[in-house]
Amino acid sequence: MNSGNTPAVWQNPLRDKRDKRMPRIAGPCAVVIFGVTGDLARKKLMPAIYDLANRGLLPPSFALIGFARRDWADEDFGQIVYDAVKKHARTPFRQEVWDRLAEGFRFVQGTFDDDAAFARLAETLRKLDAERGTGGNHAFYLSIPPGAFPVVCEQLSKSGLAETQEGCWSRVVIEKPFGHDLESAEALNSVVNSVFPESSVFRIDHYLGKETVQNILALRFANEMFEPIWNAHYVDSVQITMAEDIGLGGRAGYYDGIGAARDVIQNHLLQLLALTAMEEPVSFSPAELQAEKIKVLSATRLAGPLEETTSRGQYTAGWQGSEKVVGLLDEEGFSKTSTTETFAAITLDVDTRRWAGVPFYLRTGKRLGRRVTEIALLFKRAPHLPFDASMTDELGQNALVIRVQPDEGITLRFGSKVPGNKMEVRDVNMDFSYGSAFAEDSPEAYERLILDVLLGEPSLFPVNEEVELSWKILDPALEHWAEHGKPDPYESGSWGPQSAFEMLQRSGRDWRRP
Ligand code: BG6
Repeated sequence: MNSGNTPAVWQNPLRDKRDKRMPRIAGPCAVVIFGVTGDLARKKLMPAIYDLANRGLLPPSFALIGFARRDWADEDFGQIVYDAVKKHARTPFRQEVWDRLAEGFRFVQGTFDDDAAFARLAETLRKLDAERGTGGNHAFYLSIPPGAFPVVCEQLSKSGLAETQEGCWSRVVIEKPFGHDLESAEALNSVVNSVFPESSVFRIDHYLGKETVQNILALRFANEMFEPIWNAHYVDSVQITMAEDIGLGGRAGYYDGIGAARDVIQNHLLQLLALTAMEEPVSFSPAELQAEKIKVLSATRLAGPLEETTSRGQYTAGWQGSEKVVGLLDEEGFSKTSTTETFAAITLDVDTRRWAGVPFYLRTGKRLGRRVTEIALLFKRAPHLPFDASMTDELGQNALVIRVQPDEGITLRFGSKVPGNKMEVRDVNMDFSYGSAFAEDSPEAYERLILDVLLGEPSLFPVNEEVELSWKILDPALEHWAEHGKPDPYESGSWGPQSAFEMLQRSGRDWRRP
């Protein structure tokens, strides 16, 4: 008999009666991609659109319009999409899906400053609305350098495309970098917001589209086990690592002068920090989720002095596995005197009751030992160890590690008795792995995010204020580095410059070896 207040079978009173297996499908719409010849469009956007169509999540009337300078016919554009889909799509190729999707492909030739080209674009969309039934709903995907945002926004405004007609929507999707510091981000945001209201602006941070990143919220707020220890009473420090093994050959145009901190700390890593450190939102409504992220980002600042709490590096030649690779300065397109960092690490304090005194260490780099992104909560040591000291030599800190990628999952690390007749304690791991726990494959981040744009679901898109707060956090480090010389060299295939290790050693800590 159940004599307490808890029902024998616990039922969630808020349980939604809808069948959750029925996915939401986008309504009639057209997507216009600017920057259709770029890498992102070919490797991520076009394949994701095909994958969505293949999963039955796009409407039959869907249309995709490419806008670029090339002198292409609709068929040439179709061929580019076809090649991209064949090479990069996640789901199998199905001819009937492709044929239906390809009927909605159009290409508009022009440059961004060409009024006539935007008039042709408007005409193409009008025709599609009337003939294909795209319903006057248009998403404009700016997969272009931020320098071109103002002119494209202005053209969309002049040609009437930014205006939302009665019962229809018009949305703009922008890709990072959202500026290169706080001031430029504010300027960029004000240009975009002068044409599109904030509710129609979707800023892509593709990390938020990753299943493992969304799972941070499920892990923390759907369980009773973790939240009680998710604070400064138990956590010693937090390490957020985004390591890549690839180099920057071929990416000089974008990366030189930008560097690792602007490329990924300002956006991906600070978003991971926000989700890890924020308080429980009242609900998962976009406004309430954003309010909590904004609150925690407002409480976050660089710990100082910056010469001791930050590090930046640049890779030199070395070995990546069995491949001999060149240093950044010998990569195609980089100047021999480039001071662009390919590695950056910072220490942050989160000034809240929950986190006071817990350093958050963020690091990212190219050409590191291997590709891995993880968030590790490292716990304080037990206040007393009633063992013979030599029996706990191999006992480290307890850790909870969210493995964002690859090998997506969660690891708990704790001490366990080594079998035998001594009370020897050693670290062991307990693993949850997406691959073995779930039969379904995770969709690509861009599938989720593009679908959310078409559904008008803004939860996974950082708002203006989050972007500006992130620059506010990072700017002092960028200024410090700009004033203090060159990044420290580190060998390709290593785990970064010596200064990054010293940064933690000063407080008696060490980076995790993922
Ligand atoms: C992008 C950065 O945002 O993320 C790249 O501009 C980086 O430099 C990429 O390589 C990594 O994404 P992912 O999803 O492969 O971790």
